[in-house]
Amino acid sequence: MTRRGEKIAVLTAYDYPSARLVDGAGVPVILVGDSLGNVILGYEGTIPVTMDEMIHHIAAVVRGSSKALIVGDMPFMSYQALDSEAIRNAGRFLKEAGCQAVKLEGGRTVAPLVRKLVGYGIPVMGHIGLTPQSVNQLGGYRVQGRTSEAARELIEDALTIEEAGAFSIVLELVPAQVARAISERLEIPTIGIGAGPYCDGQVQVFHDLLGLDPDFHPRHARRYAELGEMIQTAVRSYVADVQAASFPTDAQSISMNADEEARLRELLGDEPSQAQFG
Ligand code: KIV
Repeated sequence: MTRRGEKIAVLTAYDYPSARLVDGAGVPVILVGDSLGNVILGYEGTIPVTMDEMIHHIAAVVRGSSKALIVGDMPFMSYQALDSEAIRNAGRFLKEAGCQAVKLEGGRTVAPLVRKLVGYGIPVMGHIGLTPQSVNQLGGYRVQGRTSEAARELIEDALTIEEAGAFSIVLELVPAQVARAISERLEIPTIGIGAGPYCDGQVQVFHDLLGLDPDFHPRHARRYAELGEMIQTAVRSYVADVQAASFPTDAQSISMNADEEARLRELLGDEPSQAQFG
């Protein structure tokens, strides 16, 4: 797509129904992000997310999609301790969950691992800039690469990850100028989130795009719908209908054959009465 000059719209999905919708809408790359820790599992961040949780959700996304490339996000401590463990875990994503590629966070430090994974036939997407798994070291969810020196480090990281064989790289929360400098120097597509317009593609979190959490609106996200409010309005109507006994009506009920109903009443010794339904 990048060679054809087409921008790449990447979106996260975490389960079967969202994958069906996202895939059906023509998103070419679905990321099953470890952001599922925040948006699906209610954790404070991505650090508690486990391999088993990721595999459970990636497998559901794979079942719900037929066209998109599915990238599984490797959770914290599934690839940092030992390369052998990382290779096995990445392999589990492809074998057990059925995705086609993995994403992992980090620059030069993880480049040797990226090279190994790619060497074993596991496509890798890199991720630099704000890397949420390092939030404790970064001192919060802050923009990265603001100074010229920090930007130069990021460019070096990006080039090294490309050189190690990654097929693409996420740039998260970096100034647009830095993302531009990286995009101009890399052959592989850069996928930005909070990284401005010069990347080869963009990635967004499903819930941010659709307003599923009415109270959370990150600056880098554009809301295309207010589904959180729509869902609450719909649910309130349902509660009111049940309380008012206006749901269900005949239209949502199943009626017994009149003869069988009469026979049942006879069996139970009930008074013959008018049919309840229909
Ligand atoms: O986990 C995630 O959703 C991500 C994207 C925000 C890039 O890593």
